[in-house]
Amino acid sequence: MSEPVIDAVDVVKFLGRGAGRLQALKGVNLSLRGGELVLLMGPSGSGKTTLLSILGCLMTPTSGMVRVRGRPVANLDPEALAKIRRDHVGFIFQSYHLFPTLTAEDNVRLALDVRGERSQSKAARDVLGMVGLAHKTKAFPHELSGGEQQRVAIARAIVGKASAILADEPTGALDAQNGQAIMTLLAEFAKDQSRGVLVVTHDPRILPFANRIVHIEDGCIVGEEVVREAKRMSMS
Ligand SMILES: Nc1ncnc2c1ncn2[C@@H]1O[C@H](COP(=O)(O)OP(=O)(O)OP(=O)(O)O)[C@@H](O)[C@H]1O
Ligand SMILES: [Mg+2]
Repeated sequence: MSEPVIDAVDVVKFLGRGAGRLQALKGVNLSLRGGELVLLMGPSGSGKTTLLSILGCLMTPTSGMVRVRGRPVANLDPEALAKIRRDHVGFIFQSYHLFPTLTAEDNVRLALDVRGERSQSKAARDVLGMVGLAHKTKAFPHELSGGEQQRVAIARAIVGKASAILADEPTGALDAQNGQAIMTLLAEFAKDQSRGVLVVTHDPRILPFANRIVHIEDGCIVGEEVVREAKRMSMS
């Protein structure tokens, strides 16, 4: 089986202060391997977004550790963490996190520029075409609907060369047709044996795209189903 692109080892996370302090994650182990699309499902408040943030190195665990491509992320300064995020992780958040003063095309192109590549307008436009927004490349976020903004965020995550895409309810704001199209793109991305996709969802329509479903409740992984084996690289 492919190597993990990101894994969490015995991750514990406390959040909040004083009387509001709570244990959001209670010793979580989770590997995202190359070539697989994993769904993370669980009730509201069970720790899904917290786990995604820790896997994506946006938040550090209270104890335990995250490894990116096998390399422990512990004890890195903010600059080194930012570099790991930039080089390895594409995020799709519940809220879209687009830059309001940039057009759709420039929001997507930014992901390429940040990676030190030359401005690649064509690549940005191509990927916007893939998410059905070829006609909106010059629009600013406030000129787009919620679903359209989400598709720009998805384009931005897949245009780079991230090892992993971590997506928090990526189809929540989309109708059935657009949700289907986006999941097809994410599944395509995950066919690459060096890249994995982890999707937080409540949406049963996403189930057919999964290789594996991980269930989380009250900060603990409580079960896992392998839906179908991730496509393997031929060993010939
Ligand atoms: N900054 C914070 N301070 C204190 N508690 C927090 C903080 N952020 C989240 N929590 C709590 O941590 C727990 C896990 O939150 P998390 O956002 O990971 O849940 P979730 O599974 O993503 O839920 P949802 O499906 O509603 O998005 C919840 O009980 C939440 O109230
Ligand atoms: Mg959440």
